[in-house]
Amino acid sequence: MSMRKISSQKKLIGNKPQQTLFAVEPSVMIENLYPSGSKREEIEKKFKDIMHEELKLGSLVSYVGNKNIPFLRIYRYKEAFAFNFVRDFLKRLGAGADDYVFDPFSGLGTTMFTSMLCGLPSVGIDKLPIAYFISKTLPLLLFLKENELKEMWTPLIPKIQKNEPADVASDVPIMKIAFDKETLLTLRKLKSTIEDLSIPYRDIFLLLFFSILEECSFTSKDGQFLRLKQNKKISAPIEAMSSKVAQVEEDIRRIKILFPHLSINEETMPDVYFGDTRDLSDIKFKKRPTIIITSPPYANRYDYTRTYSLELCFHFVKNFEELKTIRFGILRSHIESKIRKDEIPPHPVIKEVVEALGRRKLNNPKIPSMITTYFIDMQKVIKEWFKVLAPGARVAMVVDNVRFEGELIPVDLVLSEMAEDVGFEVKEIIVARYKGNSSQQMKKYGRVPVRESIVIWRR
Ligand SMILES: C[S@@+](CC[C@H](N)C(=O)[O-])C[C@H]1O[C@@H](n2cnc3c(N)ncnc32)[C@H](O)[C@@H]1O
Repeated sequence: MSMRKISSQKKLIGNKPQQTLFAVEPSVMIENLYPSGSKREEIEKKFKDIMHEELKLGSLVSYVGNKNIPFLRIYRYKEAFAFNFVRDFLKRLGAGADDYVFDPFSGLGTTMFTSMLCGLPSVGIDKLPIAYFISKTLPLLLFLKENELKEMWTPLIPKIQKNEPADVASDVPIMKIAFDKETLLTLRKLKSTIEDLSIPYRDIFLLLFFSILEECSFTSKDGQFLRLKQNKKISAPIEAMSSKVAQVEEDIRRIKILFPHLSINEETMPDVYFGDTRDLSDIKFKKRPTIIITSPPYANRYDYTRTYSLELCFHFVKNFEELKTIRFGILRSHIESKIRKDEIPPHPVIKEVVEALGRRKLNNPKIPSMITTYFIDMQKVIKEWFKVLAPGARVAMVVDNVRFEGELIPVDLVLSEMAEDVGFEVKEIIVARYKGNSSQQMKKYGRVPVRESIVIWRR
């Protein structure tokens, strides 16, 4: 493994924002969305003049845009945004040699990986161990020589079945049903084979190992939870690993063609921290970050510790108790989030929604608490960002609005007003796409456009 040192790409990218057109005049729709005279109508009117649509961004705010991007395609982190989204926003925000890019909810590490390819230093933080691991390990793939991985993998294959199976968190219910017996045993032996390797190969092969778990299991990461699909056709672990190794080899060749002048040095290697963006006091930033490109968990009930439970159970937790500790330690965006007695909605819009939901029969009574805790946590997060960012820093954040029992929450605007309250200037609200509603909500309350937006703030 050699550290490729190629000349630094510091010139970078212009800073002219793209012109956009209104495909739908947002104000036309407000009247139909909220009760007349409501706090939500008020906040929509307040931000109306800085809101516009750029629906061509719709395909870039999701992971789908990474399908053909070398290395970012290896591990499917389905909550990620696309490489081209980050590249586009680095350009729009006028990123240059003196910038320090920060993703405080870094996930797969798309922001840092893209910054690195653009020659910019970056830093990321995530509270989910698997996300932290992947984003820390992905950049290492860039230092592999052609065929290096394949030559390591081929002699390992005959050793796998002779190895002792690695321990897994087998008391977690999903682990009892996610695999057939033979596949689970092979995966455990494969994992111990990988654990015997030296660093960084151990981490690189572990990354590939995590990336095959879904296809070797009866589960599928689609929708709110990790779904069980008993009739699914599953892959054999060794063959799946061989395909992943081949994919990495292909990407090593492709990256040289796509980025012939790529420069990676100590300065542009991302700093990655396992941490909580609600409290950044322990994070050792090289200097104050000047750009944030990020996307928080959405207030949509999805639980990352369920979606990624196989990976967590294979490596990051010893048992169910440890898994639950992670579940209750991440941002409170999911339904099992715990609320303290003294916690109340931190914004008038949220108070209005929580009260409206209190008058409805809910299919889950915990929804109002989840909404309250989500906004309490996000308010803390925004305050922390204001503290650590350099004066003049720019923030681009992708957020999804949500709708529960017909009550629409303009998450993009509430978070923007919270940002304004701590001192940020809200520059733009860019609507990237409108999402559909669940069939139950549509039947009961009709169909309304639910925005997924990019909010742009300046410190
Ligand atoms: C929408 S995803 C971000 C995806 C990322 N933009 C990417 O391209 O992969 C939100 C991330 O926030 C992380 N997260 C949840 N709670 C957190 C916390 N308290 N501090 C930091 N990260 C957290 C989740 O683990 C998840 O990876």
